[in-house]
Amino acid sequence: MNIDVSGITVGYGKEIILEKLSFSFEGPGLIQILGPNGAGKSTLLKTIIGLIKPIDGHIVINNEDVTGDPRRAGRYIGYVPQVTSIQETYYPVTLKELVECCYLLKKKWPRLYISKDEEKIIKDALLFVGLPRSVWNKCFWDLSGGQKQRGYIARALVSNPDILLMDEPFSNIDPNGKMDLAERISRLSKRKLIIVTSHDPMLLLKYTNKILLLNRRIYIYGDPHEVLSKEVAEKIYGKALIEVKEHLHIIDSHF
Ligand SMILES: Nc1ncnc2c1ncn2[C@@H]1O[C@H](COP(=O)(O)OP(=O)(O)OP(=O)(O)O)[C@@H](O)[C@H]1O
Ligand SMILES: [Mg+2]
Repeated sequence: MNIDVSGITVGYGKEIILEKLSFSFEGPGLIQILGPNGAGKSTLLKTIIGLIKPIDGHIVINNEDVTGDPRRAGRYIGYVPQVTSIQETYYPVTLKELVECCYLLKKKWPRLYISKDEEKIIKDALLFVGLPRSVWNKCFWDLSGGQKQRGYIARALVSNPDILLMDEPFSNIDPNGKMDLAERISRLSKRKLIIVTSHDPMLLLKYTNKILLLNRRIYIYGDPHEVLSKEVAEKIYGKALIEVKEHLHIIDSHF
């Protein structure tokens, strides 16, 4: 499995958010995308999955050009969107149905029938993300923020994609849950390519292969120890970065 983002420029109307951004990675592993609010992290993930077409540049996944084509990109990529309380569009669906629907959409034929083995894939995905059976048949929109977040991860996992994009998967999860989820993500990264955006690099640092530090048109991509040096992080976080003994702190985060 491989990803090659080459020279993408992305904007909304006349406003350019990302400019000539390139990075590539091969094999299973974990990439963290870090940067302040409004840096363009979600925009980059949406561009990789094809929901936004870049003004310039290409996205190549598993040696296939998928630029601006969510159907093609979706063959290889599972996407966990950033959960905010405002973006919800209510439609009646239970948690299990939401995950099932995604499975059926990716499946070839027959699409209306779920065998016992397939049922097990769906249940395993729900259990893997730590969602107990007691909430499987609840209306998805009545779940807590953290449960919804986990539901979105199960939905992305169920089609067994090579690559998983996760937009702030820790944002609604409680402290114990964060450690637990980080451990699950690290396990997945042994066999998949995981790209995670986050405001807390510490949670996944020991499992991270590469970091992309991003602030709009400025970015740095490299090994964690290179990217998280004081000089480099300062360029991105400016005054939000403070040094306490040998550790660097970004507002709430620390590394
Ligand atoms: N649909 C849109 N139309 C116009 N501008 C947008 C749109 N989506 C995002 N933007 C703008 O693009 C910039 C980058 O937004 P983006 O959501 O990618 O940032 P982010 O790094 O994910 O931030 P956060 O940490 O808050 O999630 C912001 O200035 C935002 O206002
Ligand atoms: Mg975002």
